Amino acid sequence: MWVPRFVCPECRTDLVETGAEQFACAACSRRFDRRGGLWRFLTDTRGARLEPFVRQYRIVRQREGRRPAAPDYYRRLPSVAPGDPHARDWQVRRETYHHLLGHVLAAGELQLRVLDLGAGSAWLSHRLAALGHHAVAVDAIDDEVDGLGASRHYATPFTAVQADFDALPFAAGQFDLVVFNGSLHYAADIAATLERAYGVLAPGGTLVVMDSPMFRADRDGSAMVGSARQHLIGECGCADVVQPGEGYLTFARLDGVADKLALRAQFVPSRGPLGWRVRRSMARIRLRRAPAAFGLWVAQ
Ligand SMILES: C[S@@+](CC[C@H](N)C(=O)[O-])C[C@H]1O[C@@H](n2cnc3c(N)ncnc32)[C@H](O)[C@@H]1O
Repeated sequence: MWVPRFVCPECRTDLVETGAEQFACAACSRRFDRRGGLWRFLTDTRGARLEPFVRQYRIVRQREGRRPAAPDYYRRLPSVAPGDPHARDWQVRRETYHHLLGHVLAAGELQLRVLDLGAGSAWLSHRLAALGHHAVAVDAIDDEVDGLGASRHYATPFTAVQADFDALPFAAGQFDLVVFNGSLHYAADIAATLERAYGVLAPGGTLVVMDSPMFRADRDGSAMVGSARQHLIGECGCADVVQPGEGYLTFARLDGVADKLALRAQFVPSRGPLGWRVRRSMARIRLRRAPAAFGLWVAQ
């Protein structure tokens, strides 16, 4: 299994090996190790900052019926059984996954070094490892249902790293592909997070954003965030809603980052099943705003 070269996530200094699967930062003396199958690079301070979001995230996933227990469920993703309550969402996710295979991976070398940021249960890393790529899954959560702890369900070889995607513990220039899979909209400063992630790409590498809600206009994105907030209060019973990041992306913001980094960007939309499209068109009338677009944004 390929393990990338680690640096201190806080001061980006090289690490010194202090034991089997144990490192210390040569500059700030922080210590990092591998426990329960995960490399642990989430510092106490960052963990404490993310804690309210993680608590809320678990409640919401539970209420929405998104915390399945069967190992087979994880191994099949992005496919789910036809009767799955979230089958339509997963149909869109599957479409985007196929865009990734067709537009990014089909043309490339056989074994890419892929960084899967906001990996959740790491289904994408599992899929890419099964295709022979060197995958590294990063998430702040080590939960065995929604987080990297679910990696125990896969027999494929990939490296799982608990870390904040705003403090990546990787030396620069090591990955051929960096993917935010349904996760970039959780960033507090989307452009800054994307630019930092670009720093760990090797020259000529590809930056991908998959399945975050995308809008042309900020007012539609903030209206969606407002509705999501009402859902958290009303249906999920969250009294103090935690808003970890911007909550949506705009094409202009992503393309602005691509321009700054001198990358060429394109968006490949996922259209979803007919029923999903119809519901979205009706929502446009009811909510008087554009629905979010989902799909694959690629910059290279
Ligand atoms: C909607 S889930 C998507 C999970 C997975 N990629 C998938 O497609 O099912 C978003 C993920 O982003 C992670 N996340 C949010 N903010 C993060 C941060 N600052 N650092 C690392 N992971 C983060 C969450 O813990 C969560 O697992």
